[in-house]
Amino acid sequence: MSRLIGRLLFSRSRVRPARLRRAVRDRVVVVTGASHGVGRQTARQLADAGATVLVLARSAHLLDELVEQIRAHGGRADAYPVDLADFTAVREVAERILAEHGPVDVLVNNAGKSIRRSVELSGRRFHDFRRLTDVNYLGPLRLTLELLPAMRAARRGRIVSVSTFAARMPPFPRWGGYQASKAAFDVWLRALAPEVAGDGVRVVPVYLGLVDTRMSAPLLAAGRVPALDVRDAAQTVCAAVCTRRHSLGPWWCLPAELGAGVVSRPLRAVLAWWYRRGRDTPAAVRAARAAADRPRPESLPAQAERRPPPGRVPVARPDRSEQP
Ligand SMILES: NC(=O)c1ccc[n+]([C@@H]2O[C@H](COP(=O)([O-])OP(=O)(O)OC[C@H]3O[C@@H](n4cnc5c(N)ncnc54)[C@H](OP(=O)(O)O)[C@@H]3O)[C@@H](O)[C@H]2O)c1
Repeated sequence: MSRLIGRLLFSRSRVRPARLRRAVRDRVVVVTGASHGVGRQTARQLADAGATVLVLARSAHLLDELVEQIRAHGGRADAYPVDLADFTAVREVAERILAEHGPVDVLVNNAGKSIRRSVELSGRRFHDFRRLTDVNYLGPLRLTLELLPAMRAARRGRIVSVSTFAARMPPFPRWGGYQASKAAFDVWLRALAPEVAGDGVRVVPVYLGLVDTRMSAPLLAAGRVPALDVRDAAQTVCAAVCTRRHSLGPWWCLPAELGAGVVSRPLRAVLAWWYRRGRDTPAAVRAARAAADRPRPESLPAQAERRPPPGRVPVARPDRSEQP
């Protein structure tokens, strides 16, 4: 029943197996975040359709296991373990992919991280905002920049981003860091789309509703919340690999987006009420307590000594990790 409600609310897209096969057979498809959840299931479905699937994530053992499973079913896959927050490693992995497989036909930017936490509990957790930005925005951006030139030169390619419906909604209390980082990548990609359209490269964002995965587990555990099954979410991502539409998402995204502008004032009151009514999850409270128990990095003596004396402008140092 809850799967049915999830489907009605978050509308999965479907693609006929023959169509998916025509689109990806013998094509090179990169799927990030393939060790778990939506990415893992998407990689399986694309491999079943005949794609050579290159799977990326940090958990090397889970990628190896997935590659073994795909190969055991007669598919083709290779694992490229990488931390998307390590931009030098992202560049190196992209270079290896291009050297070993040539231009990528489809890049599925799926890896992501989410945090739901009130600002009240965020004061000592600035590093989490940085991490969200690295994983949801700058890491995928770096990977796209590295793989894009070969796509453009081949005059074909598709970039699918697995985003969230929340990227198109008014900002929700407690979700600011996640929503901002997902929206940042979404905006960048939508700006990229017209720049690369003339080179045969298509950009298709997927605005997923809630999906029953490791990421949403704390939220789903807190109550009876409808969610898409991970196979339905993966179907939607596969549909994005072949669709002629500019984006895929729940049917109500556009009316909600337009309506939110019209009722912005009462909406703000509703969101404030909703914030007061809700609570942070036990995990969010634990994380905030743990940070409060640690000394603040900027109050550590070694760092304090490195600070320039008041009035002196610090000299900017070149970031050598970014140099070729
Ligand atoms: N679940 C939902 O309700 C929902 C709703 C809307 C949109 N989405 C989006 O759907 C996508 C997939 O989410 P999911 O629900 O499948 O989550 P998940 O089960 O937690 O999987 C996230 C994937 O991202 C990878 N990842 C995380 N940090 C990484 C890093 N630093 N470097 C490389 N890979 C990293 C993880 O692999 P490792 O841990 O092995 O690195 C994992 O494979 C995300 O972009 C999410 O924002 C999810």
